Amino acid sequence: MKESPLAVHGGEPVRTKPWPSWPQWDETERAGLLAVLERGEWGGYDKAVAEFETAFAARHGARFCVTTVNGTTTLETALRALDIGPGDEVIVPPYTFVATAAAVRTVGATPVFADVDLDTWNLSVTAVQAAVSARTKAIIPVHFGGLPVDFDSLLPLAQRHNLAVIEDAAHAHGSSWNGRPVGALGAAGSFSFQASKNLTAGEGGALLTNDAKLAERMWSIANCGRSQDGHGYEHPNLGANLRLSGWQAAVLSAGLNRLDGQLERRMSNARRLRGFLEEVDGLTPQRWDPRASAHSHHLFLMRYDADAFGGLPREAFISALRAENIPVSPLYPYPLYLQPPLVEPFSRVTPCPNSEQLCQQTISISQNVLLAESHEMDDILHAILKIRENIASLR
Ligand SMILES: Cc1ncc(COP(=O)(O)O)c(C=O)c1O
Repeated sequence: MKESPLAVHGGEPVRTKPWPSWPQWDETERAGLLAVLERGEWGGYDKAVAEFETAFAARHGARFCVTTVNGTTTLETALRALDIGPGDEVIVPPYTFVATAAAVRTVGATPVFADVDLDTWNLSVTAVQAAVSARTKAIIPVHFGGLPVDFDSLLPLAQRHNLAVIEDAAHAHGSSWNGRPVGALGAAGSFSFQASKNLTAGEGGALLTNDAKLAERMWSIANCGRSQDGHGYEHPNLGANLRLSGWQAAVLSAGLNRLDGQLERRMSNARRLRGFLEEVDGLTPQRWDPRASAHSHHLFLMRYDADAFGGLPREAFISALRAENIPVSPLYPYPLYLQPPLVEPFSRVTPCPNSEQLCQQTISISQNVLLAESHEMDDILHAILKIRENIASLR
């Protein structure tokens, strides 16, 4: 069969059908929203919030869940609840969304950047060890793209140095390590329900923990500094109104019922994509540690080696793939310690060559693509092979 020219040169794209859209919703969201509407008490702590918190904690094997307005304030709330502030250091990766490190600065502490591993995109435990100082109070590992960090190595290190682990699980709804769901494996775990996330209400966030005292403090900080059993105008803590609304909680509860089916489908499609990529020199998928018993695949990550594509720059490869209707992204352009609010001396930076390399080489596919039918993954492989065959035309 004679292949058409590359779509970037006006040829027929490999993919003509749209990919699954996101968010997905049905009558259960509609019914949940109507129930909140008709209860007629739109503010405060709607019962839909309590229902969602209970279900979300149960799904992740955690004792407590505290919801907030987003996955940035969750991180800030956890840090404040652990009394982390000026003079303290918190170890974070530089290859992540800005909130992971910005939250540390917002509470007055200093983010300390430690490198990630090239093959997992996750914090390197060796780099964390090298970054620990007498001022370190906590580590915020990000389960990047949904792949849990190596808890078997990270938790003993944290215990040795008496450091709190706050999991940034913004990408990792439903992920698990050795069969144990992420979120409450450290002191606390932070989730985001922002529009792109695997569980979403447009915005929203949640903290999980097994520590009753910490849960109480986090709840207070997110509820104007009140105590759960106290008077509404008594404020034992410094807090703010960070409450999730009943509308959001209703939508999240409906989505949570779909989470496991979607998780299975993403994992199965990710396995198929990985199988393909074994045949493709120059595109290396994120290493899926077998101990990561569930991997949410918020992002399907690959490392692009331009040399294996005849020197074609990553940006040109991405443009060619997008023209074939394969939605890919280069993600972050540079490490967070180059963002003005996070440069030294607002942070402390240890050498991070892997993060810099990943900023140059990452190609990512978002989770909604992995919700297509299994055979539709073949379009991704076909587009890659088509570009490879026509590489000379791109020079
Ligand atoms: C790793 C990570 N942490 C934190 C956040 C912040 O979440 P939110 O946008 O809900 O504030 C995000 C959101 O994109 C994220 O990707």
